[in-house]
Amino acid sequence: MTILVTGGAGFIGANFVLDWLAVGDERVVNLDKLTYAGNLKTLAGVLEDPRHVFVQGDICDRGLVDGLLVQHQPRAIVHFAAESHVDRSIHGPGEFVRTNVEGTFTLLEAARAYWGRLEGDASADFRFLHVSTDEVYGSLEAHDAPFTEQHPYQPNSPYSASKAASDHLVRAWFHTYGLPVVTTNCSNNYGPYQFPEKLIPLMIVNALAGRELPVYGDGRNVRDWLYVGDHCAAIRRVLEAGVPGETYNVGGWNEMANIEIVETVCRLLDALRPSELGPYGRLVRFVTDRPGHDRRYAIDARKIERELGWRPKETFETGIRKTVEWYLSHTDWVVDVQSGAYRDWLSTHYGRHSGAPA
Ligand code: NAD
Ligand code: TYD
Repeated sequence: MTILVTGGAGFIGANFVLDWLAVGDERVVNLDKLTYAGNLKTLAGVLEDPRHVFVQGDICDRGLVDGLLVQHQPRAIVHFAAESHVDRSIHGPGEFVRTNVEGTFTLLEAARAYWGRLEGDASADFRFLHVSTDEVYGSLEAHDAPFTEQHPYQPNSPYSASKAASDHLVRAWFHTYGLPVVTTNCSNNYGPYQFPEKLIPLMIVNALAGRELPVYGDGRNVRDWLYVGDHCAAIRRVLEAGVPGETYNVGGWNEMANIEIVETVCRLLDALRPSELGPYGRLVRFVTDRPGHDRRYAIDARKIERELGWRPKETFETGIRKTVEWYLSHTDWVVDVQSGAYRDWLSTHYGRHSGAPA
C-alpha cells in the first residue's frame, strides 16, 4: 500500500512523513515543489529509504500528478502543500491563490479521475485528506466560544482566504462528485523543523543570535498552539477512521497570548543557554502591527476526541521545552536555513532524487 503526500518537505508535511515511516511500513510518495519552505535536509534520514519516494514537482502540474497516481496507485492523498505564511500573503497574495486554490483544484480533479477508475475496496477505501487551518473561521473576541466545525467561514487574510477557498472546493468535490474527502482544520503548529519565519522558531533563533524579538502590536493576540507530533497523530487517525465529507478541528487546548509565548521561550533559553549579556527578554520589541491582524483563534477539538478518540498528548509546557531543546541541538539545520545552503542540498547531497514517472 502507498499514500501520496503533497508538501512533505515543509514543516508539518516532513514531520508527518518522518513519523509515518517510524510507526509503520507503508510507502510514501512525497510530491513537493521545494519552494523556500521546502527543505530536503529535514528528510535526510529517509531519502535513501525504499519506502519513501521523493518527487520534486508542482501540485498545479496536472500531467505530473496524473502520472504519479497511475504509477504508484495510492490508497490516499494527504494534502499539505500550500503557501502558509500570513505575512508573505500580505506582500504577495498571487502565489497563495495559485498554489492553495489552483493547486488544490488540480489535485482534486486528478484524484477524481483516478478514483473514478478504481473498483471495489480500492474505490471504497480511497481518501483525499485536506489539511487546512483554523484561520478560515476568522477572528474571535476575548469571550467568544472556540471555533467548532459549524463556525461560519470568515477569512481575513489573503492566506486564510485562499485556504478557505480550497476547503470549499474540497467540500464541493464530495457533494457533487462523491469524492471521499476529509478535511482537518488545525491551530498553530510548533515543533522541530519549522522555518524560522513563524513566531516560535523566529524568537528562538533571533534570541540566540542576540537579535531583537519583534512582537506585533500589543502582543495580546491569542492563538491556540498544537505540537506538530500531536497534529501528525491526529492526521493518521483521521485517515484511518475519519468519515468522508466530514471536517475535524484539531487543537492543542493551549490558548496563549503572543507575548506569553515569547516570554516562555526567553525563560527556557535563559535556563538552557544563558547569555552573558543578560536575560533574553531584554531583546523584546513591540513593533508595528500586521495589517488585518486577527485578534484571537481558539479551537474546540471535542468532535475529533468524541468521534475518533484523538486528544493531544503534549501540554504547552512539555511541547515548548522539546522544541527549544531541538533548536539548541540542531544548529546545523538552523545555520543551513539561515544561510540559504539548504536550497542547494538537493544537488549536493541527493543526486538521484526524482521519482517522477518517465
Ligand atoms: P510550509 O510552508 O512549512 O510547507 C509547505 C510545503 O509545501 C513546502 O515544502 C513547499 O515546498 C510545498 N509547496 C508549496 N507550494 C507547492 C506547490 N505548488 N506544489 C508542491 N509543493 C508545494 O507549511 P506547513 O506549516 O508545513 O503547513 C502545511 C499545511 O498545514 C498547509 O496546508 C497549511 O496551510 C496547514 N496549516 C499549517 C499550520 C501551521 O501552524 N504551520 C496551521 C494550520 C494549518
Ligand atoms: P505566525 O507564526 O506567523 O502564525 P499565524 O499568523 O499563522 O498565526 O504568527 C503567530 C502570531 O505571532 C501572530 O499573532 C503574529 C505574531 N507574530 C509576532 O508577533 N511577531 C513575529 O515576528 C511573527 C512572525 C508573528
